[in-house]
Amino acid sequence: MTQKINRIGVLTSGGDAPGMNAVVRAIVRKATAQGVSVLGIRRGYSGLIGGDIIELTSRGVDGVLPRGGTMLYTARCEEMLSDTGQEKAVQTCRHMGIEGLAVIGGDGSFRGALALARRGLATVGVPATIDNDIVCTDYTIGFDTACNTAVDAIDKLRDTMQSHERCSVVEVMGRDAGHLALHVGVAVGATCILLPEKEVDFHKVVIEPIRMGRLSGRHHHMLIVAEGHGKGAQAVAERVEAETGIEARVTILGHIQRGGTPSAMDRVLGTQMGCHAAGLLIAGERSRLVIKQDGCVMSCDMEEGLAQRKCLDQDLFAAAVAVAT
Ligand code: F6P
Repeated sequence: MTQKINRIGVLTSGGDAPGMNAVVRAIVRKATAQGVSVLGIRRGYSGLIGGDIIELTSRGVDGVLPRGGTMLYTARCEEMLSDTGQEKAVQTCRHMGIEGLAVIGGDGSFRGALALARRGLATVGVPATIDNDIVCTDYTIGFDTACNTAVDAIDKLRDTMQSHERCSVVEVMGRDAGHLALHVGVAVGATCILLPEKEVDFHKVVIEPIRMGRLSGRHHHMLIVAEGHGKGAQAVAERVEAETGIEARVTILGHIQRGGTPSAMDRVLGTQMGCHAAGLLIAGERSRLVIKQDGCVMSCDMEEGLAQRKCLDQDLFAAAVAVAT
């Protein structure tokens, strides 16, 4: 028989993502309803190491569902990479009576959770990152909102770029992963999409489609460049201007993409995943990653979930190329 869990902790870590608050709310509501108290650790692992901890109540998470960002604040914590940092984090949990910890974040955050699990603390990861780069889950919380935010901004941009007959070069977030750029590019009907995962023949993929488009009467071109692609959006724009003579303008969407009220999909996914995470911790599970596959929320072993890199959706990429020109 598993021992009854009395108290769990929750933290958000790494880059924030719209929908993180939905997860915190769901964990608090589900756990407290079952008589399990919940502590909120502020500022990610920095707060765990330094003991920046608050009690979370069911009433205390009223009104957070539509709010972007994270009510617990977040941080990227170098100290958590060291043995000393990890040991301090485990000591805080012992001291505060935290028997299980929900970590809401991306792969860097889960590496921290895995390290704590290896030191004996039950941890469950909930994938929340606008990058959607966690291999075993179809979607991460925040991805849908970020896509919609970027698409909305680009639709506005198109109006002015079209009026001036310019070429737009839009940089979308994604240092190492192009999932966001690919989805956004398809949704805005981009002329081409440049991703960190794909080296391209610039002339064939960028210059030729622009030239062909111009010959067929197109007055505006939209290029989507992921943050981590080659030398970046500015270099792309300079080359386009030099080789086509068309005026190009760079727009870096930046952190706008991480903000804003979460979409319905992210609120629903955050709620489902938060409930699932609380259930796992209460059941005494350890080292699990909550995921969504084929429409179902479930979990997998955290180490297995982190072992591989998520591949680009090749079918979607092929569709993007097929409809581009
Ligand atoms: O959260 C993921 C992410 O938004 C990446 O797409 C981006 O490269 C990075 O975070 C930016 O991080 P920071 O906010 O630390 O500049």
